Amino acid sequence: MSVPELFRLEDKVALVTGASSGLGVAFAQGLAEAGAHVVLAARRAEGLRKTADLVEGAGRRALTVLTDVSDPAACEQLTARALAEFGRVDILVNNAGVGTAVPALRETPDQFRSVLDVNLNGCYWMAQACARVMESGSSIINISSILGLTTAGLPQAAYSASKAGLIGLTRDLAQQWTGRKGIRVNALAPGFFSSEMTDQYPPGYLEGQLSRIPAGRMGHPRELAATVVFLASRAAGYITGQTLPVDGGITIT
Ligand SMILES: NC(=O)c1ccc[n+]([C@@H]2O[C@H](COP(=O)([O-])OP(=O)(O)OC[C@H]3O[C@@H](n4cnc5c(N)ncnc54)[C@H](OP(=O)(O)O)[C@@H]3O)[C@@H](O)[C@H]2O)c1
Repeated sequence: MSVPELFRLEDKVALVTGASSGLGVAFAQGLAEAGAHVVLAARRAEGLRKTADLVEGAGRRALTVLTDVSDPAACEQLTARALAEFGRVDILVNNAGVGTAVPALRETPDQFRSVLDVNLNGCYWMAQACARVMESGSSIINISSILGLTTAGLPQAAYSASKAGLIGLTRDLAQQWTGRKGIRVNALAPGFFSSEMTDQYPPGYLEGQLSRIPAGRMGHPRELAATVVFLASRAAGYITGQTLPVDGGITIT
């Protein structure tokens, strides 16, 4: 098989959570362009429908399923819907996430728990549901963050804890499942990419961060989507348990 062929995802079935906006849209579109059919999950129907149009525009099939990933039963139902429609799940992109910035001395238990419930627990419920039905050769990609590896000036204890937890979860699921089930589990640690999440930053914050980024700019969602396609594909067949920063070099500064 040639090297370009190793990147192809022809007729694979990918499931992307958080596919109603931002990076999840780029992941779904990129996976479809690489050949995969895509199951799209989030809570907002309108955004999912628009992403489905992009997947279908790339010549692949799309299925939209309204899902709150903080609910383990909903994660089971989503996976069952994917299986009923396509007969298999080869790729899971655990992308759904919420970003918050609350000073630690003012953060309530409910605020803290609500972030962990989506960003960390939701990824675990989805990984469990998918791994039960995935065949050998499948791939799980958890979308962590550079905030799982370093700090970036905002008070983000809940978000950072969830994203660092996701890196530990990635390592552990890889050691449980890669040998026994043939499922690779990896994480991405994105730097700064324009999305609804980054739209919520205080005025001037992103401009301040730009001076820390060796590449001198924010990332483009398609650059991240290309990395997801790589990790999902046979091109990354010997990579598991790893967290790959895609951050313009910010974590080396
Ligand atoms: N943008 C960046 O610079 C950056 C950097 C590092 C990491 N990340 C990570 O990348 C991922 C995507 O973020 P984004 O920047 O694209 O932000 P975004 O545009 O706000 O997208 C977040 C997505 O998550 C979904 N979501 C939130 N809560 C959910 C829930 N309970 N159940 C199901 N879906 C839920 C949202 O859909 P609904 O509201 O429709 O449910 C939306 O589709 C997140 O995990 C984020 O932490 C982003």
